Amino acid sequence: MKNFRKSVVYQIYPKSFNDANGDGIGDLKGVTKRLDYLKLLGVDYIWLTPFYISPQRDNGYDVADYCNIDPVFGTMEDFEEMVSEARKLGIDIMLDMVFNHTSTEHPWFKKAIRNEEKYKKYYIFKEDIDRESPTNWSSKFGGPAWEYVEELKAYYLHLFDVTQADLNWENEEVRKEIFKIVEFWINKGVKGFRLDVVNLISKPEKYENDNEGDGRRFYTDGPHVHEYLKELNRDTFGKYDDIITVGEMSSTTIDHCVKYSKPEEKELSMVFNFHHLKVDYKEGDKWTLMDFDFKMLKEIITSWQLGIQEGEGWSAVFWCNHDQPRIVSRFGNDTKYIKESAKMLATTVHMLRGTPYIYQGEELGMTNPYFEHIGLYKDIESINYYNILKEQGKAEEEIIKILQSKSRDNSRTPMQWSEDNNGGFTEGIPWIPLSKNYKYINAKQQLGDKDSIFYHYKKLIQLRKELNIISEGIFKPMMEDHESVFAYERELNNEKLIVINNFYEKEAVFELPKSLKLSEYNSKILISNYEDSSEISNIIKLRSYESVVYYLEK
Ligand code: GLC
Ligand code: CA
Repeated sequence: MKNFRKSVVYQIYPKSFNDANGDGIGDLKGVTKRLDYLKLLGVDYIWLTPFYISPQRDNGYDVADYCNIDPVFGTMEDFEEMVSEARKLGIDIMLDMVFNHTSTEHPWFKKAIRNEEKYKKYYIFKEDIDRESPTNWSSKFGGPAWEYVEELKAYYLHLFDVTQADLNWENEEVRKEIFKIVEFWINKGVKGFRLDVVNLISKPEKYENDNEGDGRRFYTDGPHVHEYLKELNRDTFGKYDDIITVGEMSSTTIDHCVKYSKPEEKELSMVFNFHHLKVDYKEGDKWTLMDFDFKMLKEIITSWQLGIQEGEGWSAVFWCNHDQPRIVSRFGNDTKYIKESAKMLATTVHMLRGTPYIYQGEELGMTNPYFEHIGLYKDIESINYYNILKEQGKAEEEIIKILQSKSRDNSRTPMQWSEDNNGGFTEGIPWIPLSKNYKYINAKQQLGDKDSIFYHYKKLIQLRKELNIISEGIFKPMMEDHESVFAYERELNNEKLIVINNFYEKEAVFELPKSLKLSEYNSKILISNYEDSSEISNIIKLRSYESVVYYLEK
């Protein structure tokens, strides 16, 4: 059985990964064709974002049938083939389960609005003759969180798009339906589940207006969420000893995340939190332009590392996913120092305490595409906010700049396989344009260059397998006040890792703490992003984006 602490998960956004039939949309057969690439990289699991039947308003996070494959992505046979081919290579499949809401095209919802009592109770309907919205909460994609259904004289809750109706987890029948779905996929050989916004499933008893925020404080980490997760664990994946789970936790806290992920609690294997990815939001507002706040980034990562460690929980550690802009464009340098900064960022995350997640193309240093007009954007959130910012009177040019930096489409452009037409992603017309830089940032080029970003990731994954300290060591912060360096220590028995990362182009000097007596250790460089990084000494000079990991042993 795989140890998830020693594992690395690779996230695939099927729509943009590889298109096998030339319709411009990536598919499951396309994934199967690229398994060798993932094997070479060395990952243990692939997490696929939703490919179930869906109207695709939110690219599959609006599920209309949880147990069937959307024809756009292929067939159940394609899925089974992918699972078994991956298994032969030692790679397991993790599915993305969207249980906070369903699409309004789901048969349950359709029956609900046909006034079938049983199914009305599957969702959160609030009757209102006077057409007054039950609360003033906002949807996370902009606009109100309630939608009126004339026929029922009632509102339903949707924390996301109006076509994503929130399920009523208080209803035991709903929970039982969900457990059946999980069991269905377990029987298909799935070994992992990523649970979409799962800390939002338990809604408050009383629905009240939020005069301080958008309503999230009432339903985030809600009153029964831990009970529901324990039940889900007990009745589904917890019955097996080889299934891993990760919960996507929106606006959560360390205390809750400890509970979600501490083994004795029997809830989930690990958690995603996003606080470290809000350090470029001006006053908490994503749709603004701001350089990232480096000190805040370090503080947040450090406090989460320490808090989760102290509580004996476990984190997923990551920079990228299908909802986040590309990390080299965000906290790195996507022009002159792309290679150095991409490797530095990779090392920073992979040496933390937690299970690393790599998002497709991150291992190549893929960048934001810098789309120049609104017509190129496909993401519903981006389009909604484009309209909201327009209404606020912002200039077109400024809005496009904001989207170029914040849109979720930044990470959704097709995977750059080669310098061929459409980057080797499709023979047809891609559903969303590629980044123009695929001619020189692509897998084929990097596989032929031992010094590439790809091989740096490969090495990081390999090191995790070789050295227990990477998965098991204690995390300790170092020189927390340094202006441009993020450094930390890991420790296990008589071994230490010293991880030092310069986040800027400007050279930096880093002084080891006096308490660390180098003479007591044998030391070597474990991994770095310059060929000639200097051996460890009390004062270390770092070049642009230089990153070094020292391994010390008594
Ligand atoms: C999660 C997904 C995101 C989706 C949302 C609603 O945050 O990662 O892509 O839009 O949930 O399901
Ligand atoms: Ca296709």
